Formats: sequence, structure tokens, C-alpha cells
Amino acid sequence: MIDIAKNIATTPRRTKASVIRELLKTTNQPGIISFAGGLPSPDHFPYDFVADAVKEIMAKKGKVALQYGPTDGLPELKEEFIKFLKRYEGVDAKPEELIITTSSQQALDMVGRLFLDASDPVIVEKPSYMGALQVFRSYGAEFIGVKLEDDGISTEELEERLAWLQAQDEHYKFIYLVPDFQNPSGVTLSEVKRKKIIELSEKYNVAVIEDSPYRQIRFEGKAPKMLYRLDQESKKTHNIISLFTFSKTFAPGLRLGVILGHPQIIKKMEILKQSLDLCTSSLNQLIAAEFLRTGFFDKHIEVIKQDYKLKKDTMVGALEKYMPEGVTWTNPEGGLFLWVRLPETMSADDMFQDALKENVAYVIGSAFHSDGSGKNTMRLNFSYASPTQIDEGVKRLASAVKKRMVGAR
Ligand SMILES: Cc1ncc(COP(=O)(O)O)c(C=O)c1O
Repeated sequence: MIDIAKNIATTPRRTKASVIRELLKTTNQPGIISFAGGLPSPDHFPYDFVADAVKEIMAKKGKVALQYGPTDGLPELKEEFIKFLKRYEGVDAKPEELIITTSSQQALDMVGRLFLDASDPVIVEKPSYMGALQVFRSYGAEFIGVKLEDDGISTEELEERLAWLQAQDEHYKFIYLVPDFQNPSGVTLSEVKRKKIIELSEKYNVAVIEDSPYRQIRFEGKAPKMLYRLDQESKKTHNIISLFTFSKTFAPGLRLGVILGHPQIIKKMEILKQSLDLCTSSLNQLIAAEFLRTGFFDKHIEVIKQDYKLKKDTMVGALEKYMPEGVTWTNPEGGLFLWVRLPETMSADDMFQDALKENVAYVIGSAFHSDGSGKNTMRLNFSYASPTQIDEGVKRLASAVKKRMVGAR
């Protein structure tokens, strides 16, 4: 056996195991109510639609479906996605602004490959999506965490950091944002701040990655415009790169996503993707094209929104009912997650094993902090468990919190 430590390259050596993926192994035990994963509810996967679509595709386009496709994606899906963008987001896009990916996680890897050299500064929200931190870290990123407020990243702190980096002559590469119902916090970036970010992107000439898997799952309130659209309207920067995925609105098993960006960036992404997987599954692309073309998406998203709203309300209600004083949480208008803050003196990391003993699981908030802070925070998912389980799970979690509070006295 070779000496792995000596022989593996720098990138995998830098890559740490995902805390979520490790945690999920322990939380799948029978009896545990898990708020840990980011899983959509399997109750709503469109099983019959997929079965019918595959039959139809095999009859009419079997040779395309089972063949290699173009690296940047099948025209059938691009065409439908462009219509979707216009209808839902008011965005006008051309085919050369799009590349189909094997989901958003691949898109994040492509962003890392395209932009990062070792020690490059990358600006992230604090907290931020762990899967992105993991990828960017593996390419050697140095994170600059900017605090997240109730209406998104602090634009004042963001500007301070950009000005400081510029003064140091640092070659900062991009700002990574999850602007809608952020994973992990559930927070949405306000339109005022979005406009400010477009201004900053122009002033400091910096790319912005808009990673938005949850945007279409809005169950209340009005959606602020996408950064990509605001940028188009301002006719200024072309610095926005937007990532979409079908994982939360259709099915994660399809592994299907889209990157939207300036054609020159997309061309570079295409070259990278050639070495990653040649192309994304042709069959899955045709299924997704049908999903959009037939209008099934529009009906399906309503079903998901209704169910997740009920579950979110159940979770917020249970938190109000069971949690002791000193514990606070976000109340998101969409998405899959909410964010709980324990009193500063408590550690959600330390409490994790206690919670498992109570048969309930969550993800520790510190895993989403680029600097390991946020020890008193945790992420709760509300899409997967049933309303009855949500009520019971929060009751168990509150019991673990109360026991710790008593123990600390
Ligand atoms: C913010 C964010 N980006 C990217 C992903 C990756 O999603 P996928 O690869 O399934 O598209 C997730 C998954 O939870 C996410 O929350």
C-alpha cells in the first residue's frame, strides 16, 4: 500500500470531511427525529410524472437520452430554462449565458477551480453554506467572513473589507452569497442591500456568486429581484454568476443544475466541465425539460410551498411552546431551514450528544462559520420530518437545552 499521506496532492489534502455528511451517518438511526439533513420531503417527489416522462422520452428521443450530450447542456433544457427565467425572474438570457451542471455542488467546484489559487481571499457570509466552504477551502481559499444580519450580509462591513483588501493590494476573487432563505440561517437579502452589492461589485471590480437553491420555495412575502436581474438592469458589471439547482424543487437524485453568467465565464466553465464529467446526464436533462415545458413545475412548486409552510409554522409554534427563555430563532419566509441561537454561554457543539440521547438531531452552527465561531447556534431543517415529528422533536430538543441550562447553574 502506498503512503497516502505522502502521495496525495495538495487539493485533497486540504479537503476535510463534511461535518453534515458525517453527522447524517449518526442521525439515521431508528427512533431519531432528524432536523439535521437538508433533504426535501420524499412525500412530494413526482414519481408518476418521472415514470411517464421517461416512457415518452424513450419513445420519442431515446437516442438523445441515452447518448453523450454537449458539455454545456442539451438545447431542449436550455430553451425551457430560458423561458422559466423570463417567466419567474424577468431575466432575459441567451443560450451562451447558460451551462447545465451536475447540480450546484459541481457548479461550486467549477467556481473554485476557475477562480482560486492558494491563499486567495474569498468573502463569505458568516455563517455560510458548509458545502461551499469545503470546496473553496480545498482550492486554498482564505476566508473573510462578513456578519449576516436579519436582512442579509452587512454591506457596511462588506465595503470595509473590500476597501481594506484593495488597500493591501490583495487579489480578492469573489463574494459568495446565498441570498434567498440562506442555508443555514433562513435569512433573505433585502433588495436595498442587493442594489448596494451591485454597486460594490462595480466599484471594487469583484465577481459575486449568487447561489440560490431555495429561491422558488417562497411561501410568504414578496421576492426581491435576483442579483443577476438587478445587474442586467443597471447595465454595469456582468460580474454576477448565478447558480440554480433542481434539487429542492424537483428531486436531488437527478443531480441537475444551471450556471448563469457572462458568456466568457460560461465558456471557461465548459472547458473545466469537459474534464469533470464530459456532460451532465442527457436523460435527466430531458426529464427536467419536460418538467418545465408541461407546466408541471408550476403546479408542483405550489404543493411544496404549502407543505413546507405548514411545517415551518409547526416548528416555530413548537419553539415558542417548548423553548426556555434566552433561546431565539429566525422565522423564514421560505426555504428549508431555520436558525436557533442559544444563550452565548451555551455550546450547541457540546449539546449535540445530549440531543442524540433525547433522540433528536440538528447541525451544529459552528460548522457553517469559516472561523469556527458560532458555537451557540444550530441549524434546524423543517422540510423532512412530519408535523407531528416536528412538534415532538422540538420538545425533545428543548428538554436537552433545559437540562444543560440547569447543569450550568
Ligand atoms: C446553498 C447551497 N448550495 C448548493 C447546494 C448543493 O445542492 P445540489 O448539489 O444538490 O444542487 C446546497 C444543498 O443543500 C445548498 O444549500
